[in-house]
Amino acid sequence: MTTPHRIDMHVDPIDRESSLIADVRGGLSARPRWLPPKWFYDERGSVLFDAITELPEYYPTRTERHLLRTCAPEIARITQARTLAELGSGSSEKTQVLIEALTAQSNLTTYVAQDVSESALLGGMTALADRYPGLDIHGVVSDFSAGNFREGLRSMPHYPDTLLAFLGGTIGNLVPAERRNFFAAMREKLGPGEHLLIGIGLVTDEATMLAAYDDAAGVTAEFNKNVLHVLNRELGANFPVQHFTHVAAWDADNSWIEMRLRAQQALRIVIPRAELTISLNAGEEVRTEISAKFELGAFRGELKSAGFEEVAHWLDADERFALLLARADRIVP
Ligand code: SAH
Ligand code: TRP
Repeated sequence: MTTPHRIDMHVDPIDRESSLIADVRGGLSARPRWLPPKWFYDERGSVLFDAITELPEYYPTRTERHLLRTCAPEIARITQARTLAELGSGSSEKTQVLIEALTAQSNLTTYVAQDVSESALLGGMTALADRYPGLDIHGVVSDFSAGNFREGLRSMPHYPDTLLAFLGGTIGNLVPAERRNFFAAMREKLGPGEHLLIGIGLVTDEATMLAAYDDAAGVTAEFNKNVLHVLNRELGANFPVQHFTHVAAWDADNSWIEMRLRAQQALRIVIPRAELTISLNAGEEVRTEISAKFELGAFRGELKSAGFEEVAHWLDADERFALLLARADRIVP
């Protein structure tokens, strides 16, 4: 007899439209102009992101998966986690490696997955429910960055002996001040002795990093432009998507890849539901995403300031990506 799936899904009652309007009004009126990355991930955006993870140029996913395969048993042994909670879990594809090890070695009972993308979350949860019929699976559709991250993390239920995972190098999509707020919110969420597992992209040679965000097949370009489709559909905007070019550039001062959309000609953009009209000059750019690359020591220091002590880390042979396991200190700083 098969155990019935134990799976539930909670959709945070955030007002998607008003939060999109606020972001668009703030970001597109600012100089330089920018848009927050969470709006990439509608159903099409999540499918395009999954396609990115399989591109030959996009090394982070396959490197992290390989690292997880190597270190998951050790993570299970060290953490003895009974709950795995994951932020920005997407399709949870790599997470299976962790679940496998935690089930075998530390009596994992519960998986809590959180993402803004309901379609990606549902797909991932369904696949996991089929594979692990005994596992309690909770999905939370919410924005982890809400209310300087504190509110965002409050929407996640917390169960005993949690290992909190944040994979994919998504931490690099936050600017330093956001990172600080995020670490503080994660530290408040966890009890002393609970663990955080975080995947980070490391600084490596520029050509390798850039190619990962500007692939030959143009999938990343499509993904980047998807945010314009989202604004056209959800706010009635008139972005002529074909007149924008995908740009990826390495910013050495900030140690991040910057993704932008460049207007190929002068454009007048009307965004009715945001009551906003903007004029873009030919060549003008809108920043859509950063992906910071780290030095391990500095990253460890940021965690330390937030009340996390590194327990172990793992690097691939080319030192392009790291998994870092940290423990919440007794004292919240
Ligand atoms: N963890 C997966 C996906 C990484 S891509 C992996 O390693 O492959 C980044 C993920 O974070 C996407 O699934 C996206 O939908 C989600 N995301 C981005 N911004 C978010 C936000 N503000 N709140 C919640 N999820 C977010
Ligand atoms: N978290 C991913 C990363 O920084 C997100 C990502 C990959 C991305 N490729 C992208 C975001 C292209 C915008 C554009 O690696």
